[in-house]
Amino acid sequence: MRCRKCSNKAVLGIPRHHTAFCGTCLTDFVSQQVMRAIKEEDMFTKADRVLVAVSGGKDSLSLLDVLHRLGYDVAGLYVDLGIGEYSRLSKSKVERFTQMRGIRLHVHQVLETEGAGINDLSDLIHRPACSTCGTIKRYHFNRTAVEHGYAVLATGHNLDDEAARLLGNVLHWQTEYLKKQGPSLPDSLDGFAKKVKPLFRVAEREVAAYAIVNRLDYIVEECPNAKGAKMLLYKDMLNRLEHESPGTKQMFYWGFLAMQKTGSGQRLSMAENDRAILQPCLKCSQPTTSEICGYCRMMARAQTV
Ligand code: AMP
Ligand code: FES
Ligand code: ZN
Repeated sequence: MRCRKCSNKAVLGIPRHHTAFCGTCLTDFVSQQVMRAIKEEDMFTKADRVLVAVSGGKDSLSLLDVLHRLGYDVAGLYVDLGIGEYSRLSKSKVERFTQMRGIRLHVHQVLETEGAGINDLSDLIHRPACSTCGTIKRYHFNRTAVEHGYAVLATGHNLDDEAARLLGNVLHWQTEYLKKQGPSLPDSLDGFAKKVKPLFRVAEREVAAYAIVNRLDYIVEECPNAKGAKMLLYKDMLNRLEHESPGTKQMFYWGFLAMQKTGSGQRLSMAENDRAILQPCLKCSQPTTSEICGYCRMMARAQTV
C-alpha cells in the first residue's frame, strides 16, 4: 500500500476517505482535521490561552502535541485520581511529555484535596468509580480553566467517542443530553469555561496511528476501573458498520452536528438556556443548577475533608 499523497510506503489506510497515508502525510492529515475543527466550530484562536486536559493516554497527548506544533498557546491539566500504579504511570508520562516541550502543566491531586483516591471515595458514597471520577474531573477541568483565566478547556474526545455517545443518547432518547452534545460548548456565564473537542473529526485508529508515528510516549493500559461496558459495545457496533460501509461513523455524527446547526439552532441557544438555570454553588461558587453543586454534595457525603 502506497501513500496517496507522496507514494512513500503507507502506514494507514483510511477507507472513509478512499485514501492511505505515510507517517508524514498522516501527521499533516490529522493536523488539518484539527485546524478545520477549530475553525468550523469557532473553538479558539492563536491569541487564546488553551488548557488541554491530559490523561496520559494517546488521544489527549496527541491533541496537546498537534496544538503545540501548530503554534497554539497551550498548557496541560492532569487530574491525579489516586488509582495506584495506573495513576503513577500516567502522571509520569504527562510530566515527561510537557517537560520535554516546555509546556506548563497544572496537576490536581485528588488524594490531597479530596482526602481519598477515586476508589475509596466511590466506596464511601456508594457510587460507581467512573461516575465519581466523572464528577471530580469535570469539576476540576472547569475550575482550573476559570481560576487561571484560560479562554477554553480542550479534551481529547475523538470521532469514535462522540459517535458512541450520540448512539447511546439516541437509543435512550436522552433529549436533554442531545441538546448539550457538541464539539464546542460556549461559556454560558461567569464561572463556566468554554469546552471544546478539537479531535472530533479524527477517528480513534487515526489518532492511535498519529501517536505511534510521532513516537508519543503514552500510557497504553486502560484505567483498571473498566470503562462503561455500554460505550465499548456502542463503539464496537459502530466499527462493524464502518467496516461494512466506510464513512458511516462520520456521517452519523457530522450529520447530527449539521442538523443541530441548520435546525432550530439548539446548540447556539444553549448559552441562553444555561444562563437562566445556572447559579453559583453556595459552598464553592462554581456554577450549578441547584443551591449546592454535585461535587460539593458528593464531598459532603464522603466526609473525607
Ligand atoms: P475519558 O473520559 O477517559 O475517555 O477521557 C476523555 C478526555 O478527558 C481525555 O481525552 C482527556 O482530555 C480528559 N481526561 C481524562 N482523564 C483525565 C485525567 N485524569 N486528567 C486530565 N484529563 C483527563
Ligand atoms: Fe475515571 Fe478510571 S475511574 S478514569
Ligand atoms: Zn460546590
